[in-house]
This record gives sequence, C-alpha cells and structure tokens, in this order.
Amino acid sequence: MQELSLYPPSPEFSARAHVPDLDAYQALRRRAAEHPEEFWAEMAEKEVHWFEKWHHVFEWHPPFVKWFVGAKTNASYNCLDRHMARRGAKPAILFEGEPGDRRVLTYAELHQHVCRFANALKARGYRAGDRAIIYMPMVPESVVAMLACARLGITHSVVFGGFSAEALKARIQDLDAHLVITADGGWRRGREVRLKDAADEALAGCPGVRDVIVLRRTGGQVRMQEGRDQWWHDFEAGAAPDCPAEPLDAEHPLFVLYTSGTTGKPKGILHTTGGYLTYVTCTMKWVFDLKEDDIYWCTADIGWVTGHSYLVYGPLSAGATCVMYEGAPDYPAWDRWWEIVARYRVTIFYTSPTAIRALLKQGDAWPAKHDLSSLRLLGSVGEPINPAAWEWYHRVIGHGRCPIVDTWWQTETGGILIAPMPGAVPLKPGSATLPMPGIEAEVVDFHGNPVPDGTEGFLVIRRPWPSMLRTIWGDPQRYEQQYFSRIPGIYFTGDAARRDADGYFWILGRVDDVMNVSGHRLSTMEVESALVRHPAVAEAAVVGKPHEITGQAVCCFVTLKQGYEPGDGLAKELRQWVAHEIGAFARPEEIRFTEALPKTRSGKIMRRLLREIVTSHTVTGDVTTLEDMGVITRLASQHDED
Ligand code: PRX
Repeated sequence: MQELSLYPPSPEFSARAHVPDLDAYQALRRRAAEHPEEFWAEMAEKEVHWFEKWHHVFEWHPPFVKWFVGAKTNASYNCLDRHMARRGAKPAILFEGEPGDRRVLTYAELHQHVCRFANALKARGYRAGDRAIIYMPMVPESVVAMLACARLGITHSVVFGGFSAEALKARIQDLDAHLVITADGGWRRGREVRLKDAADEALAGCPGVRDVIVLRRTGGQVRMQEGRDQWWHDFEAGAAPDCPAEPLDAEHPLFVLYTSGTTGKPKGILHTTGGYLTYVTCTMKWVFDLKEDDIYWCTADIGWVTGHSYLVYGPLSAGATCVMYEGAPDYPAWDRWWEIVARYRVTIFYTSPTAIRALLKQGDAWPAKHDLSSLRLLGSVGEPINPAAWEWYHRVIGHGRCPIVDTWWQTETGGILIAPMPGAVPLKPGSATLPMPGIEAEVVDFHGNPVPDGTEGFLVIRRPWPSMLRTIWGDPQRYEQQYFSRIPGIYFTGDAARRDADGYFWILGRVDDVMNVSGHRLSTMEVESALVRHPAVAEAAVVGKPHEITGQAVCCFVTLKQGYEPGDGLAKELRQWVAHEIGAFARPEEIRFTEALPKTRSGKIMRRLLREIVTSHTVTGDVTTLEDMGVITRLASQHDED
C-alpha cells in the first residue's frame, strides 16, 4: 500500500456536511476523549428514543462493558415508530428483486408489516429472551423479520443464505433457537437458491425447533412438515397491524451474528440494544453524511454485519430511504448495479473492494451506459482497497466528484471505527484514515506498547465504545481469551496496521489464521475441519492465497489416506465437499495434494511456510523448528511445476 495522492474534500461537499472541516472533527474527538460519559450521553439523547433514561452511561469491568445502564429502549421502535409523524409517507425500502419485480415500502407500511408479524409471533407465545434464526433471501420480509423480533425482544441470528445446511444446523444448535424464519428460496443469477431444502436438511438435526415460518418468494416446490412448518402468509393472517414495542433494557441482546474465529467453531458475536443503536445511528451521519433527501444503497447481504448495521439498523434508525437488491451484480449483465443507481437516483453507495475489482475488470463501458450523476458519496468495506481499485471507483463511478469512505470495522465492533468523515478529512487511497470520536485506536507491539509512526504492529482499541460486542454467545471465556488476553484489558482486533505521520491508519490484514475472501471472514481451521471429514483426507492445512478479484482465495494442502490417489476428480470432489459443508463462498480455489505437511517438532502445522509458498513461491525466514525441510522444498517445487 503506497501513499499515492491526497484528496481533500471539495468546498461544495464540506459546506453541506454534518462535520464540515478538520477542526470540527478534532473537536468531536477531543470531547469524546476528555469527557466520554458526557459525550456519549449527549449522542444517545440526540440520536435514540429512550422509554427510560440510564443511571450510568457505561460500566467497564474489563473485559465486560455495559452501556446506558438501567435505560429502556427498543430498536424496532427507533427504526419505525419514532418516524411515523414526520416520515410515515417516506419510502423506507426501495426493493428490486433479481427477476425485476419492484416494491416500495414507506415507513408506515413497513411499520404495519412488522407489527403484524410481531403480533403473530406473540400469539404463538414468543417473547423477550427467546431466540430466532433468520435464513432468508434479500427481500423486505427479512427486514420485517428482524424488526419484528427486535420489537418483542426476541434475539435474532441471521444466517447468510449462502451458508450450507451444515453451517445452519450448527448455528441453530449453538443458539438453541426454537424458531426459524426462512423462505422457499431466493433468486441468484437467474437460478433459485433453495433455502427451505437446506433448512430441512439442517432441521433434521435440530429437534428443539418448534416453528418454521416460510415466506413464499420463488414459488418453488417445498416440503412442509405438519405441525412445525407454516407459510408466512397463513401465519400472520388476521394479525392486527398495531403492536406496541416492548420497552427493553439497553443491554437486552438484540442479535447474535456468527463469524469465523481461529478454531473450527464459529463464534456467536453478541450485540445488545442501546449502545449499538446509538453508535450505528451516529456513524450514519459522521461517515455517510446522511441527509433527509438521500437515497442510500448498501449492497451487503443482511446475513453479514454490514447488512445489520448499515442496511437495517443504522439507516432505518436514521430515517433513510434505502435501496435493497436481491441478486447478483452481473445479472442479467454487468451493468445491473448501475442501472439501479440510475433508476432510483442513488446518492450514497456502499460496497466491497471485491465487487469494485470485479466490476473494474469488466471495463468502463458498463457504467458509462447509465446516468450516475445522482451519486455524491461512495463507500468501501470488508478488506483493504488497493489504490488501483480506489482510483477507478473514484474516477469512473464517482466521476471524480464523490469522496470515498474506506470504512474499517468488524463484526465484533458493531459499527465503523476507522473511516474518514467525508466533509472534513482529506483522503489517501488505501487508508481508512482516522478513528471515529471515542475510538482510541492504536498500533502496538506484543507488550501493548505503542510503536513509532510508520512501524507495523497490532491494531488495538484502548477504551470500550457503545457498539462493542458484549461477549461470545455461551462462551465468555473464549470472549476474554480471544479479545482481551493478548494485551490484558485492551481490545485486540486481530489486524496488523501501521499509522503514518499524519495519524492515518493503514490496515495490513489479519495476524491470525483467518482469511478474508471477498470481504468475508473464513477461518483456515473451519475449512480444514470440513476437509478432514471427507473419507479420503488424512490431514489438511489451509491458507489464504492472494487473488486478483477476491483479495484472498482458499488454498488447501491435503494428504490422503491409504488407498486414495490424488487426481483432478478428487480435487473437484473436495472443492465441492467444502462448498457443501460450509457454503459456496468457501469453495477452495485450489487443492494441492502432498505427501506430508510441514510441522514443528511439537506437531503444529507451519502455516507461515505454506503461506509463503502460495504467496512468493519461495521459503525464507526461520525454518529451524521444521521437522522435515524436505517437505517444504517439495511443496515449493511442486508449485513451480504447476
Ligand atoms: O481484517 C479486517 C477486514 O475485515 C475484518 C472484519 O471482518 P468481518 O467481521 O467479516 O467484517 C467485515 C465488515 C465490517 C477486519 O478484521 N476489514 C474490514 N474492513 C476493512 C478491512 N480491512 C481493511 N480495510 C477495511 N476497510
């Protein structure tokens, strides 16, 4: 990542921005650092409706934190009811299905849908403290399901529709959910993604599930299990369109979102209500500079944290009009997104570097076919954006006119922690720039001591912030060990970073065994565990390999059991196997068969060496702990022969 050029905000943009210059930004930061309680209390009062106020702004007993202690609020109320007077007729969701079907839902209509569904859930006995799994396509009903759960205090966990039955089952079981909300299927590249079939396969191993509510989306044939499964339209038939939102504790669990860690078992990241809502609403203004007349489009799926915070809770709490699109960017052709931008006159567009690189590769003619003049701000999330992709995004999509907010954050952080405030902060392509107010980000060494500017180190956050994860569902020990043990009492992000002389952060990638494929987190161990469940596989080691479009791709080194022969057929089968075990997005790019894996004397697989092999095709550095140097040499030379 090279520092190429500096892009200051244009005077026209700054003049209208919520945070119009660097002084205003610095003033916010200073206040948040010097008087955090006052600062966050003021933000919470301004951005969120509370049924009852807190008696403490926060309580920090590392590693556990509570925000707005004693207060009562409701996320669904904040996203809907409080807008009724002023924004009832304003579109909340501009939906476009992949086949071309379109729907507009105003805030008043969304409110009615949510109330009806919540009443049906209530009638069936669901209440605060229950848990629901949502496994749905990108249609407005997925938002309805989330907000209906939030309305009653049912903690939801959305499972990305691209996850397999196996992955879904593990999440239902870990959460001990009694309710599953799904659909017959969704549309992706003209084909039906058959969600109910996958849910059926998962549910065979989940006897605790009492109700399965099925939305009819594609009209495909599904099996309905008597007594357990019900169509969404039957379930809510006759339910009243008015359902008061439960006043919930600020620390009431809003959602659990599973993400990959360094072991084979995904972690259920828990977010609660009041602090989360305060923070995501604030960042809608700070980072996206959201105004009343904006048309906001975040392309993320609701199954990822970006979908939760910046497609549902953040924008709806801030009263935005949001575009929601069901399908693939290249269907029926590579200009589908630009056609949507032009049709709805999108002003703020937020997507991932992987998508930008894929679109860039198709050339400038596709965006040139459409009127993109409504755009005023562009965003990027999920992985480092390389300067070439940044420049293209800026020039070809933004016509040189739109700032790009490169937003660094994580499932665990709930909201954006490092990003430019676009009216205030000059941009440097490839840098997420400066931290948000109240975010004490630092680059430190192994002992937690700050490293000099320009030096690489670990990215940590010194103080708690309102939307920080509260724990790992059912496993507080793992929470402490994962995030607060490397440097005691300080949040460890797992990312390496460098801060430059201007205080700008440059994120360098993960320091643990977590890959980032298309901006999706995937643990090497998760893929390895999937591989060794296959009868032919003896051992597996997985590393991320640099990839032109997806940032990283999954590369697997595999040893086989006696009686199995390496070959293209088996490689194909193993790639398919991983897709079936985890989900299509985890399908390995490459399977390399080998006789042995490089290990330390204590038997640990040396992934560092494998990473070097796939990255540079050579091995350097300290290999003195290697059991068998020959293995490395063979692996390296095998690559050269490929
Ligand atoms: O390595 C960082 C990378 O994505 C990780 C978080 O992944 P996940 O929890 O799936 O959330 C993704 C969406 C928020 C981080 O640890 N990452 C995220 N955003 C950026 C990034 N790397 C560089 N630049 C970013 N803007």
